[in-house]
Amino acid sequence: MSKEIITNRPSGIASSIYPKRIPKIKVGAIKDELGFTLSERLALRQAWNLIRPFERRYGQDVFYSFLNDMYWGINKFRDGRDLNLKAMHSHALQFIHFFGLLIEEADPVMFQLMTNDNNLTHSRCKVGINQEIKVLQEV
Ligand code: HEM
Repeated sequence: MSKEIITNRPSGIASSIYPKRIPKIKVGAIKDELGFTLSERLALRQAWNLIRPFERRYGQDVFYSFLNDMYWGINKFRDGRDLNLKAMHSHALQFIHFFGLLIEEADPVMFQLMTNDNNLTHSRCKVGINQEIKVLQEV
């Protein structure tokens, strides 16, 4: 009769499978590539669904109150001396519509491309915190 040595250690192929490592437990909500948890994303989408039917009204409320506070921003919508009202009014809608597109975008690469593109448009038009500070210093 052969003598079997019984150990606690598994042998052969089984040893590379068992015992399995316990995966690291992540405490708390898991965030997606953009840093949102599932419930944050859900809340954001639901909030956007409430706003979407009134895009134009909210867009105007937010953008015109912004221009009331940061009144020099209106100069970004001038063609020479004249105020380009069409560009200013459509921006009030475009700006909120853009937030909607960002909220609905699931692909983080597209999200990044969209924000980069928007940043480029605004730096081309010299819109940004640094430009506003420069204007304030000149006043
Ligand atoms: C988070 C805030 C903002 C968002 C999401 C936003 C969004 C947009 C979008 C979607 C466009 C159109 C881009 C395109 O046609 O490719 C645009 C253009 C523009 N935005 Fe904004 N904007 C913001 C803030 C501002 C502010 C504060 C100003 C200036 C006071 C401004 C001035 C302009 C100008 C001058 C253009 C170009 C308009 C034209 O080509 O007719 N934006 N913006």
